[in-house]
Amino acid sequence: MYSAIASFAAAQQRAPQKQQHHRSHHRQEEQRRRRLCCRFLYFRSSTTSKSRRSCGGFGEEAHIASRCDDDDGKTESDEEEVSEEERTTRNNNKKKSVCIVGGCGRIGSLITRTVLNDPERRYERVHVLTRNVNKCIAQNDTMKEENEEEGRLTFGECDVTNFTAEQLLESVKGYDEVVACFGAQRISKPFDWITNAENVDERHPKSVNFWGVRKLALAAKEGGCERFVRVTGMSVGYSAFDFIAVLLNNVLSMTIKFQLLGELAIREACVANDETKSSKRMSYTIVRPGNLTDWEGIDNNSDDEKNSGASSSSSTKSSRSSGGANNKKNNNNERVVVLTHGANHIDASKVSREDVAHIIFVALQNRKATENVTISIAGANKATAGMRSAFRWDPARGAYWETQAIDDANVQILSKWSDLDVRKFQPDEENDLKEKAHQFWAWSFLLSAFGVAYLFLRAIFSLVRFFMLSLTSSTFAAV
Ligand SMILES: NC(=O)c1ccc[n+]([C@@H]2O[C@H](COP(=O)([O-])OP(=O)(O)OC[C@H]3O[C@@H](n4cnc5c(N)ncnc54)[C@H](OP(=O)(O)O)[C@@H]3O)[C@@H](O)[C@H]2O)c1
Repeated sequence: MYSAIASFAAAQQRAPQKQQHHRSHHRQEEQRRRRLCCRFLYFRSSTTSKSRRSCGGFGEEAHIASRCDDDDGKTESDEEEVSEEERTTRNNNKKKSVCIVGGCGRIGSLITRTVLNDPERRYERVHVLTRNVNKCIAQNDTMKEENEEEGRLTFGECDVTNFTAEQLLESVKGYDEVVACFGAQRISKPFDWITNAENVDERHPKSVNFWGVRKLALAAKEGGCERFVRVTGMSVGYSAFDFIAVLLNNVLSMTIKFQLLGELAIREACVANDETKSSKRMSYTIVRPGNLTDWEGIDNNSDDEKNSGASSSSSTKSSRSSGGANNKKNNNNERVVVLTHGANHIDASKVSREDVAHIIFVALQNRKATENVTISIAGANKATAGMRSAFRWDPARGAYWETQAIDDANVQILSKWSDLDVRKFQPDEENDLKEKAHQFWAWSFLLSAFGVAYLFLRAIFSLVRFFMLSLTSSTFAAV
């Protein structure tokens, strides 16, 4: 059956869109039935072999188990009952547009490439926003050339901190989806608290990850965006007392605190849908990856043949493997991706940017399942996947960390993308996204560290003084 679908869809991909309007009724019916089959198939590009084309795409197929719904939330059985007119409208409406803010960053480039290489070509407009358009175009010249003719890929300038609300609105207006994958990376300076850096430095996480995100989310909603996707970090989901969160806050200018505030601002913009009874409705998906690497994704590293195929075809439209990142082959082929709800604590380990870009792409194609959802993504070795550490104490052993298997139904462990089940993404509870005492614990840690350092130095000083005194007194005694 796949080969029949394959030949049909490959032809469909080659045909100009306008030709579809002239197809016969019978042809449309056939197309609809085949789309139903294809809807659940997401095709990864790794080879140009025509014999493996299917559902409008080239290459190896990865079956994404979906909950049989698309953006309108209808099930397959519902689909049978809708009128032909509605079906045609739905098909016509299928073409989407996306604006990727930070689309020239490492993860942003991969998202851009993944969206452009969608075998079903669901995106007719992909707009990349960056602070430096010329640099961005130079970086993505191949991608630009490939899509220039059709005008699918465009670039625009945007700085979320310097742009006014009106400028941001102008930048993101009219896009169905906005992906915000930018972020500040600013090392703390010793006198930040004296210089009031968080309010005066425009590269501070407060300006970029909080105010910038807030302004952007409001502009996106005003501009008619339906889905706002934000990439933050896994430790945003950790407790404010967690050592990693405390450390990152202290080293990176309270970045975790401001990433969380940015998330809350997005949620507020979306929740305000109901309160303001606005005709403009926007929902969000927040993605919290662990430590990002430029390794190839799980599907690539599981098969050497696929790797070579993917990299050799990187200059073709069908490849999504290289993106803007300098992909390196993962030395450890035994890695998996652990996906869970953002409120769960899983130990973050390195996860490939390519995998995160892929998750974002899948989330965008399954809007219903990923509506107002926060997803954490970590990498792990196969042997330890799905584990988490819990703090335990017992009188015999004292305090210790216990490794537990995550039994939450919300956790997915993927060694290939065909394992992905979007039904497991759960919407956020009211208290999942709430402010935490980051500032308190960051200051407590700093003060404790200073306290310990002070006591340590005092002890050394006392010891030195003691030896000096005893040396002096014994010298005097000898004299
Ligand atoms: N690195 C990690 O291990 C890690 C882990 C978890 C989460 N994250 C988060 O993941 C996101 C992306 O990571 P990445 O590795 O792709 O980072 P990246 O390569 O450094 O890209 C970040 C992009 O943000 C854009 N940007 C910075 N300030 C901006 C501003 N004021 N206005 C508009 N755009 C701005 C920059 O784009 P232009 O220079 O083109 O304007 C830059 O390319 C960040 O939010 C980061 O915090 C990173």
